[in-house]
Amino acid sequence: MENGHAGKHRVAVIGSGNWGSVASRLLASNTAKLPSFHDEVRMWVFEETLPTGEKLSESINQAHENCKYLPGIKLGTNVIADPDLESAVKDADMLVFVTPHQFVEGICKKLVGKLRPGVEAISLIKGMEVKMEGPCMISKLITDTLGINCCVLMGANIANEIAVEKFSEATIGYREDKEAANRWAKLFTTPYFLVAIVEDIEGVELCGTLKNVVAIAAGLVDGLDMGNNTKAAIMRIGLREMRAFSKLLFPSVRDNTFFESCGVADLITTCRTYLHCSQLTTEHTY
Ligand SMILES: NC(=O)c1ccc[n+]([C@@H]2O[C@H](COP(=O)([O-])OP(=O)(O)OC[C@H]3O[C@@H](n4cnc5c(N)ncnc54)[C@H](O)[C@@H]3O)[C@@H](O)[C@H]2O)c1
Repeated sequence: MENGHAGKHRVAVIGSGNWGSVASRLLASNTAKLPSFHDEVRMWVFEETLPTGEKLSESINQAHENCKYLPGIKLGTNVIADPDLESAVKDADMLVFVTPHQFVEGICKKLVGKLRPGVEAISLIKGMEVKMEGPCMISKLITDTLGINCCVLMGANIANEIAVEKFSEATIGYREDKEAANRWAKLFTTPYFLVAIVEDIEGVELCGTLKNVVAIAAGLVDGLDMGNNTKAAIMRIGLREMRAFSKLLFPSVRDNTFFESCGVADLITTCRTYLHCSQLTTEHTY
């Protein structure tokens, strides 16, 4: 992999919702400190006009805060919001994809031929595309459309908690290129965000996707007031089904992956968070 200008890696984040903003903040805190990375983190913003009439990207660059998706949290002065997708990625050699999954294919198509050679990607996106030919993982969609290596980062990672630096773990899944996975781990790791790497990209990504199905069942248990024992049963059986389904799709998926943050920990936090959501109502999927 070629380094960015002046031998330093340059990071761009594609997405600026709740997790995109928190991820940018976390990355920017590290790029400011680590000598192998350029300070600036470019964050592509799907432009929106705020009720005040101001553009969201302008507001982020003035206040260093995403007042719509992460109000009250400073992102860091080295996070630069950019509403132009091409301009946001043009200098980057490390790309972080963190949009809702339904927008990834369209974004990737716009990026074909626009990236620097040797670019590496990581996807923080939970979900998958279901095509006529069958399910397609988001990392594979990125790799196939852009011809670039793509790792994934999943885990018990409720963005608003990481925004206020409450401790979390995460799992990076990679295929073959351990050096790239370690580079991503270095970029994401902070004292409050501990990252492990595992060579099981499909297992990690499927955990992040399938736990939401189990969490719906857990939400039904809450709604029907069926109690904690039933909810625990749903989570245990759900985890077993996640593993069986994942192995059916990809026989290479490893049992141990389900004991990483991306597996049992994300399942627990999502099943608990849905209880909150039913009380608070929120649009986010974790
Ligand atoms: N929020 C979390 O705590 C959390 C945690 C882990 C993983 N994730 C995952 O991260 C991904 C992003 O979630 P989020 O919470 O940052 O998003 P979000 O729901 O907070 O925001 C949605 C984003 O989509 C953008 N958008 C709207 N229309 C668009 C379009 N047509 N094209 C492109 N972008 C458009 C919006 O501007 C906004 O930035 C999802 O896959 C989610 O599952 C979220």
